[in-house]
Amino acid sequence: MTARATDWTLALLVGLGFATGLLSLVSGRDGDAWVFVLHGAGGAALGLVTGWKLRRVWRRVASPRRWDSRTTAGLLASLLVFATLGTGWVWSSGGDLFIAGWNLLNWHITLGLLLSLVVYHHAYLRAKRPRQADLANRRQFLHWAGISVVAALAWRMQRPATAALGWDGARRRWTGSYEAGSFTGNRFPSTSWVADAPRPLAPDTYRLAISGLVARPGALALPDLDASDKLVALLDCTGGFYSTQEWRGIEVGRLLDGAGVSPLATHVRVISHTGYRWSFPLAEARSFLLATHVGGEPLSHGHGAHVRLVAPERRGFQWVKWVVRVEAHAGTDLGAAASTIWSSSTPEGRGER
Ligand code: HEM
Repeated sequence: MTARATDWTLALLVGLGFATGLLSLVSGRDGDAWVFVLHGAGGAALGLVTGWKLRRVWRRVASPRRWDSRTTAGLLASLLVFATLGTGWVWSSGGDLFIAGWNLLNWHITLGLLLSLVVYHHAYLRAKRPRQADLANRRQFLHWAGISVVAALAWRMQRPATAALGWDGARRRWTGSYEAGSFTGNRFPSTSWVADAPRPLAPDTYRLAISGLVARPGALALPDLDASDKLVALLDCTGGFYSTQEWRGIEVGRLLDGAGVSPLATHVRVISHTGYRWSFPLAEARSFLLATHVGGEPLSHGHGAHVRLVAPERRGFQWVKWVVRVEAHAGTDLGAAASTIWSSSTPEGRGER
């Protein structure tokens, strides 16, 4: 492979890791498994091409007299690649390590984002346009085909290999998450990437508002929300754990029909006391639950008391906690993702109101 083709392949593989990594955060349905396949196989290909490149530049690296600023930058980038790949592989093999309070998946994501920034910056400053010989060339094509086949095989072998070695990695879900206790009531982790820390809401004055495209907007008290609708659903947190629980409360469809939802409504917005919110297509959200109980126990504060959304096949951060408002809209909510950034700095998000 030519030097320029190697560099472009490295940049594209880091881009693939970045894009599929971000996409993995919103992938929870069975049909989304390809995201993780591409992520894992792309990572294996990145390891191979980085090894290839290091072999080529090794003579210069091995004699520090020949180093220049580019050698140092290149070595730092390779270290970042190996740290990102290493944390990803150890996590997916079952490595249950915490470093400075973070598990390996959180370190992996942080290192992956840093690596993507460094590579993007480097490409912006120094990228040289690929020439004909770097692209339309039979040898290049054979190299790329070879790398793809070896990377796909490495990905395919990863799970059976961890199983044969008796490592925990074989027990992870296809999303990379590990089970953290199921059917345990409130006793499962209540982690959150959003730093929302609201005060506990008083049960007597708590109300759930329903508004937007409904004929009868209103506010329901807690006893009205325990309609005994039940749902067994798996919560898969992007922090790397999952838990299956029996949830009880009121189905979103039943709630909206009770309020006379308009035929014009296409989306449902679910809003937390902190301002955090998420929007879902109405057809999907009808079967979601607004839960007041888990495993027969009233929800604990950490799990979103008094009402949290249960959204099967959506990732944990979309299961909005401390829900105080449900709105019907004729369109999606483009600002919802931004609330993951600002909700923790509202007085309600900081627990002051
Ligand atoms: C940009 C560079 C990145 C590279 C090269 C990379 C590579 C890898 C590799 C090789 C694995 C192990 C997969 C396996 O063995 O099946 C992995 C796991 C994982 N990565 Fe990344 N990653 C990157 C960035 C990210 C980012 C930015 C995110 C999220 C925002 C992310 C999320 C994950 C998750 C959730 C897993 C666990 C999946 C599993 O166990 O199958 N990665 N990554």
